[in-house]
Amino acid sequence: MSEEIKPESVTAPVANAPLATIARIGEHEGHSVTLRAWLYNLRESGKLLFPIFRDGSGTIQGIVPKAAVTPEIFERIKTLTQESSVIVTGKVRADKRAPGGYELDVENVEVVQRVPEDTPFPISLKEHGTDFLMEHRHLWIRTPRQSAILRIRAEIVKAARDFLDDNGFILTDPPILTPAACEGTSTLFPVEYFGDEAFLTQSGQLYIESTALALGKVYSFGPTFRAEKSKTRRHLTEFWMVEPEWAYAGLDDLMGLAENFISFLVDRVLTRRAADLKVIGRDTAKLETIKAPFPRLRYDEAVAMLNDAHAKGLLENPFEYGNDFGSPDETYISSQFDRPIMVHRYPAGVKAFYMEPDPDDPKYALCVDVLAPEGYGEIIGGSQRIASYDLLKTRIEEHNLPLDAFQWYLDLRRYGSVPHSGFGMGIERAVAWICGLEHVRETIPFARTLNRIYP
Ligand code: 4AD
Ligand code: MG
Repeated sequence: MSEEIKPESVTAPVANAPLATIARIGEHEGHSVTLRAWLYNLRESGKLLFPIFRDGSGTIQGIVPKAAVTPEIFERIKTLTQESSVIVTGKVRADKRAPGGYELDVENVEVVQRVPEDTPFPISLKEHGTDFLMEHRHLWIRTPRQSAILRIRAEIVKAARDFLDDNGFILTDPPILTPAACEGTSTLFPVEYFGDEAFLTQSGQLYIESTALALGKVYSFGPTFRAEKSKTRRHLTEFWMVEPEWAYAGLDDLMGLAENFISFLVDRVLTRRAADLKVIGRDTAKLETIKAPFPRLRYDEAVAMLNDAHAKGLLENPFEYGNDFGSPDETYISSQFDRPIMVHRYPAGVKAFYMEPDPDDPKYALCVDVLAPEGYGEIIGGSQRIASYDLLKTRIEEHNLPLDAFQWYLDLRRYGSVPHSGFGMGIERAVAWICGLEHVRETIPFARTLNRIYP
């Protein structure tokens, strides 16, 4: 048992009742503990009170028989209001019926702040509409399901870092304020930079291509911004992306990395966040199949599947060859498999200017999108990068991008250019899929979308 961190505080633990967290309360079975908590809910049944406490690590039900405590303590608990902050002492008892396996025989409750009756906590245990909940996001995150999602997000972030760190990728942080576009200017947030125009980054990629040529294997992990006018359940205007970039690696290496990376993330969540997956009601059987290798499908093969589906009336709109897949297309393709699929070699015209053409047929780009199962669609986008100076320069010109702004990027092809590859995974998309959520807005503490920037 490793040591709990014990912050100095006026809310010191009671003698003989050490501080504990609900997530690890089993370590104290049969003993009294102190919890720094909030009241989540309170039920009453005759001479029994059933307060449910939460402490950020989980929830636990307490039991207070009238005869077991002083009348004063009984009355104090009986009149507690939802979300009042409390220091609870009680004895830990195993109970097979309890969701977390334990209950608390409450001995005392000290109130830190009592929520007044006339301003009750706005999120009651009844159903609320999503707009209302998003408007109260700062409070909504206290509820068990939202807390569990945020803990799973933290686990996925940690797992992503651990995987890359342990596989020799060096974290290099690209700038967030950038002078030029990476994937085209239409979706950039401009900012005024001492009289000049700058933009919030939409991907660290171009910068970590340079750190990859300096350090070999690198990654970035940071916020990215897209001023997309998309109102789908997959789009945020501010999201977190993890991007590995790998010198001397080709598309096959990259696909191998992507499938091992994703398998690792899912396995980590299954082993370390089982309790939270249970809280949110995730069907974990659907996650247990997620093991490398993943199916690899050429773009052309995916298109054939879509055409077939359309002919059978399973897809409303016909797919036009040469387009990027729309959400319904991705949903259809990914729902055909029990694990993520890697769609590679899109027509070069649909994809970004920096992608290496396939030497077997330069009509196609050496790129890959990873589509998550259960209809979640794209979670990873990546490619091999153009290594040739002349070709890259031509592509920049063809895309009407300002050559001046890309001189440093072209330098990477002037000085020791090598084949190199990388991808980006949006954390929120990965969390939405692994948690089985309907919308990415619940995967991040404060979602930024087309129509929300409050709170
Ligand atoms: O496919 P994208 O646009 O790829 C890039 O930005 C590359 N420069 C990454 C690279 O090769 N290093 O974005 C990568 C991933 C997507 O697969 C998706 O998971 C996520 O970022 N993403 C978004 N997530 C939430 N909201 C949005 N608006 C997103 N746009 C992309
Ligand atoms: Mg993409």
